[in-house]
Formats: sequence, C-alpha cells, structure tokens
Amino acid sequence: MARIKAIILAGGAGSRLHPLTNIVCKQLLPIFDKPMIYYPLSSCILAGIRDVLIISTPEALPNIEGALKDGSQFGCSISYRTQNMPNGIAEALLIGEDFLDGSDCFLTLGDNLIFKSGYSDFVSNAIAENSGATVFGFPVNNPSDFGVINFNGETNGVISIEEKPTNPSSNMAAIGMYIYDDTASERVKELEPSGRGELEITDLNNSYLKENRLRCQLMSRGDFWADAGTFSSMNDCSNFIRLHQGYTNLLIGSPEECAYRMGYISTEQFTDLVKKMPVNLYSKALQQIVG
Ligand code: TTP
Repeated sequence: MARIKAIILAGGAGSRLHPLTNIVCKQLLPIFDKPMIYYPLSSCILAGIRDVLIISTPEALPNIEGALKDGSQFGCSISYRTQNMPNGIAEALLIGEDFLDGSDCFLTLGDNLIFKSGYSDFVSNAIAENSGATVFGFPVNNPSDFGVINFNGETNGVISIEEKPTNPSSNMAAIGMYIYDDTASERVKELEPSGRGELEITDLNNSYLKENRLRCQLMSRGDFWADAGTFSSMNDCSNFIRLHQGYTNLLIGSPEECAYRMGYISTEQFTDLVKKMPVNLYSKALQQIVG
C-alpha cells in the first residue's frame, strides 16, 4: 500500500467566530472538554497515520505547537508550517509538498468534527481503496448550503460536486476530509485562484473527476459531522460530545486514547501521560481505560 501522511489545515480567518477568535485561534477553542483540533488529530491517528503536518496562520501556529508539541506523547510526529494568508484549502498541498515527499495525503480541516462508529476501519478501507482522490459525504437536511456530491450509487464514482445547488441531486454534503494520491501537489500547481482569490479544493477534486478518478465514501444514519466554525455549530458540537460522553462514559476525540488503542503508545506511556494530568473528568475517563 502507498505511504500516507496527514495534513490538518488549521488556519483561516475565523471571522464567523469573532470576537472569540480575536483572543484564541478557532482550532484551540473548546468543544466541550477538548480543544477543537483534538478531534481532527484523533481522526488522523485512528486512520492509522503517524506523520502529521499542521498548517496554520503565523499568529496561531506558536500556540498550536505549544499545545501539541512534537506529537511524541501520542506516538506521532507532528510538524508545523505557516500559511501566510487564507489562500484556499488546496494551498495545503503546496505548503505540505516537501512534508509529503511523495506520499499520499489524508487532508482534514481543523474545524471539522466527525463521529462514526467503526470510523477506523471505514477510513482505513477508504485509504486502501483510493485510486486518485476520495471525498466523504454526509447526509444533511439542507444540502443547498453545501457542496453536494452527485454519485453513482453502484460504484461510488463521483459524477459531479455542485457548490450550493438550488436543486441538489442528493442530500450528501462533501465534508472537510479528503484522500489524495501522490499527484495532488503537482495538480494544485496547475490551478488558477478562483474569483474569491483562493486555490479551491473543488478545482483539485475536479481535476481527478475529469479522469474518472474521484470516488466518494458515505457516512450514514447515526454518524455525526459538523463544521464547528460558527457560534451555533460550535455549541451543537459541544453538546453532542457532552451528551454522548455522558451517556456512554467513553471519550470522543481524545488523541491520548486513540494513540493508546492504535498501539502507538504503550500502557506504561499512556499511564504516565494520564498521571501527569490534573484529576478531572477527562483524566478519570482516560484512567478507567487501563483500570
Ligand atoms: P473556512 O470555514 O472556510 O474559513 P475560516 O476558518 O477562515 O472561517 P470564517 O469563514 O469564519 O472566516 O475554513 C475551513 C477550514 O479551513 C478552517 O479550519 C480554516 C481552514 N482554512 C485554512 O486554514 N486556510 C484557508 O486558506 C482556508 C480557506 C481555510
């Protein structure tokens, strides 16, 4: 199988969350009991990836790096690069080109929160089956607000992705999570900035689509996805995590737990990590994993 590394794109203006983002960057704001970026980081760990690049603004990056350090506490290697301006999501593949160094890329946005039972197998299979690019669809009740995936139900081949269509062809919104083969960075170099001055991820996806090499993987009933970038969705995400964790006594989006369950850190390393934490609901939930 091809080598794969992850990029978490965690910059952006964060204007919808002003004045919160005046003080703290969006991806370090809390989703219930964890900083927002713990969730996409956990998604990368559960995907079986240990090499992660975090891209953020020059102002936010030192704080993110201060929080997550070199990633060795999670058995990972975390690198950092800046994006000087929000020039578009596809720019992540250019900024990360030397980091990727010919690997495939699992790209996820720093403000997207995903919960799916069996997520690890789901995403590992998607990586194994990728033969170009893969987008992920989540069923929504307001598809006209999103990029909508029009797909062939038998092959999961994508027919088109329509941006905010008036008459959506499906209820599947394309979420902020993508898999690309090793040609993605070169393809981005061929793109022109859009009318809004950004290198658009949709244009990158369309370059695969033209070659019939874009597939989709669909989430389903009971799964949860949200872009936590507005006041309401941030609050919804916090409530979802609080309710779910409260009812099940199982954490969602803890990189410590994910790293332990994936075998990235030993029981001893995990126990040491937890011992260093103040005693609270978070550390108690981790503690009960090892008894
Ligand atoms: P957006 O939600 O499109 O934008 P934003 O984070 O700048 O917020 P707002 O719309 O409130 O101003 O971005 C989605 C994610 O992608 C988010 O995690 C920020 C990130 N992003 C970048 O890091 N760089 C970019 O150039 C863009 C467009 C987004």
